[in-house]
Order: sequence, then C-alpha cells, then structure tokens
Amino acid sequence: MKVVLDKLTKIFPNKKKNEEVVAVNNFTFEIPDGKLIGLLGPSGCGKSTTLYMLSGLQKPSSGKIYFGDDDVTTLAPEKRGVGLVFQNYALYPHMTVKQNILFPLQNQKVSKEEALRRTIEVAKLVQIDELLDRKPNELSGGQQQRVAIARALVKQPKVLLLDEPLSNLDARLRLQTREEIRRIQRETKVTTIFVTHDQEEAMSISDLIVVMKKGVVQQIDHPQDVYDNPKNLFVSKFLGTPPINVFTGVIKDHKVFIGNDNIAFCDAPDQEVYVGIRPEGFAIDKNGPFKLPVKSIEVMGRDSSIIGERDEAENKIVKAIVNDLIDNPSKVFAGISEISLGIKEHKIFLFNKETEERINVEIKTTLADNKENKLNKVTTKRSVAEKSAGKSEKKVVRKTAKKVSNVVKEK
Ligand SMILES: Nc1ncnc2c1ncn2[C@@H]1O[C@H](COP(=O)(O)OP(=O)(O)O)[C@@H](O)[C@H]1O
Ligand SMILES: [Mg+2]
Repeated sequence: MKVVLDKLTKIFPNKKKNEEVVAVNNFTFEIPDGKLIGLLGPSGCGKSTTLYMLSGLQKPSSGKIYFGDDDVTTLAPEKRGVGLVFQNYALYPHMTVKQNILFPLQNQKVSKEEALRRTIEVAKLVQIDELLDRKPNELSGGQQQRVAIARALVKQPKVLLLDEPLSNLDARLRLQTREEIRRIQRETKVTTIFVTHDQEEAMSISDLIVVMKKGVVQQIDHPQDVYDNPKNLFVSKFLGTPPINVFTGVIKDHKVFIGNDNIAFCDAPDQEVYVGIRPEGFAIDKNGPFKLPVKSIEVMGRDSSIIGERDEAENKIVKAIVNDLIDNPSKVFAGISEISLGIKEHKIFLFNKETEERINVEIKTTLADNKENKLNKVTTKRSVAEKSAGKSEKKVVRKTAKKVSNVVKEK
C-alpha cells in the first residue's frame, strides 16, 4: 500500500507561553508500496507526531493523508488498518502470549479458528511460536518486543508503524531485533515506517531515510546517499560515527582554505564556508596539504584514529580514521608536532556559512595541467613547504614507530 503525506502539518497550541509548537511542518512525501522508511531525527523533531497522524490518533492541523488512493485524513484509527508498535510495548501481563496476540482480533469479525490460525502464523513469523503459553514476565525484552510486533501484524495491517521499537533493548538484542524486523518486513512486504533517533539503526534497515529537524524534512534519500551527499550541515553532522569534522574555512580565488592550508579547489565565489570532512576522508601523505598537530592515537579494533587539534575545527578536535596505521607503523607520526594528511575529494563537503546549505560544486584536490597558472603557483609553493616538513618528520618516525609497535604488542 502506497502512503501519501500531502503538506501534512501539526501545530500544538501552547497556552501557557502563548506560542505555538509546529511539531510537523508541511511534510510531503509519497512512500512507495512495500518499502521500509526510516524516519530519523533528534528527540522532539516531530517523528512520533507524524506517526500519530498516520495512525489516526492525532488529527493534522492541515494537509492530507492517503492510503493508496483513499483519503484517510479524517478516518477513525480502527478503520485505517494500521499496526502500531511503541517503545513501551505494553503487553497485558495477566494474559498469555497467545491471548495477547489474539486480542486485537476479538472485536473484529474473525472466527475463532481463523483468529487462532493467524496467531500461530504470525508467531512463527516472529519466531515465538514455542512461547505461546507463557506470560509476558516469563519473556526477555527481545521476546516481548516480538510479541508486540506479532500483535500489530495479526490484524494484517496495510501499514506498519514502529515508534522507536528497539529503545528498551540492550545493545546486542537491539542489533538482532532490527535484523528481525527487516526480515519480517521483507517477508510480509507491508509498507513500514520505522521511527528512530539512532542514525546507525536507520542506515542499516531502511530502504529510504527521511531526516527531520524541528518538524521540517531535511532530506529524503537512500541511506548511503544521505551519508555521501548530505543536503546541509545538519544532515552531514547527524549521520556518521565518529561524526564528520566541521571546520570554518574560506574559498578564495577558487582555493579552499582551512587556516593557511589550501586543501582543495572549486569553482565557487569567494566566501566564508563550513568545510565538512568525514573522518575516513583523510590519508597519511607526506605531500598532503592538511597539517594536523597530533594529540593522540586511538587504536580500536580494526579502526585506528589520529586525534589532532586545529583552531578552525568545531571543539578544536579533529578525528582522522587512517586504516594503514597498524600495518605501517613507520607511517605514524605521533609525538611530533604535526602530521601531513591528504584528503579524498569525495569526502569533502562545503556549506554556506549563513544558510548551512550545501554548496553544490565539484571539489578537486589536484589541478589538471591545463588549468590557469595562477592556481598552479600555490601548488608549487605548497610542495616546497612540504619538502621541508618531510625532513623534520623523518627523525621522529623512528621514535614513533617504536611507540606504536609497543601499543600494538600490548593489545
Ligand atoms: N500533545 C502535545 N502537546 C503539545 N506539544 C506537543 C505534544 N506532542 C508533542 N508536542 C511537541 O511537538 C514536538 C514534536 O514532538 P514529537 O513528535 O513527540 O517528537 P519526536 O517523536 O521526534 O521526539 C515537540 O516539541 C513536542 O514537545
Ligand atoms: Mg517520539
């Protein structure tokens, strides 16, 4: 079932302060049939309100909702055919699992046999069919959540709405249950909206992600595209762990500067900008343009990061994930004042300083030979500086290599 949100808006009056809260602001989106949509954003951005309007529990202030071609904007919740699962999955404690799942069918015109058949079917689907005679307090958190999902599915909903369904589970169970939800959704092909504030959760199970901020949709895209092509600074910062490095920088004569470092070239007018660089966008390169005073090295499992300090960076901290750190300890420059890093051009984003919108220009870290001489001059200057930097680095490499190999041994 295709679900259409058409300029959906919800305004809550705030009587005390005499000001309104626009919880959802002009949300327009056509959800394709059978897809799993991740509705992602920080607490208070309007995710739950959106779900409540879709379920019929809250009335929109304006705008329309369509299920397929039917306008359901004012239809009562029980007539919409939605399954709803909340964070607090409130099962009836005095009923068995079977009775809990059956419950929503009791008020419907479904024969006892049919109700039981469906209950067993969904219990198998969520893999709790061996627990049907237990009471909720005899189940783990993950099993209870499966019962809640089964209870939502037994009505054979046209649309499944999940509001932070994994928040109450511990980390491992959360991972496992989200895979389960993905599998169940693929098997049933029911159009599903999954609300979460956890970007990793949304990235891992969604066909499409909707990023919201203060009631306003920021971007709707495939998970990888939201990460690789953020529309604005907020989106770039909301996705990714560790988070993107954000610097204040400038574009001058088609050169992008962070401090004195000319890190890239682009065809945009002179202006102050925010420069976003993903942690994995750095690479150790003695000819690299980005100079990073090193504070520490973090070796964690497969990833190792260089933590450095730059005044232009948000909170002054820069994190660079460099994957050849362990294999090539001699490349590590910890303990010295500075390391030179290259930056992958597709990992650099430029944002307008005022609007924080992405500046959509091609970014290059090297110049083609036939480009203006004016630009090439800087490259030459830079490489001279690098040569001298390279010399001083060599001495320290030996010391540091020893340090790092000690760190690796200790692990
Ligand atoms: N019943 C309500 N009355 C007044 N304000 C509300 C009500 N429900 C939600 N809000 C406000 O609307 C905004 C969005 O809330 P909500 O949809 O619950 O956010 P989320 O689920 O993304 O955390 C918040 O600012 C919240 O305080
Ligand atoms: Mg909520």
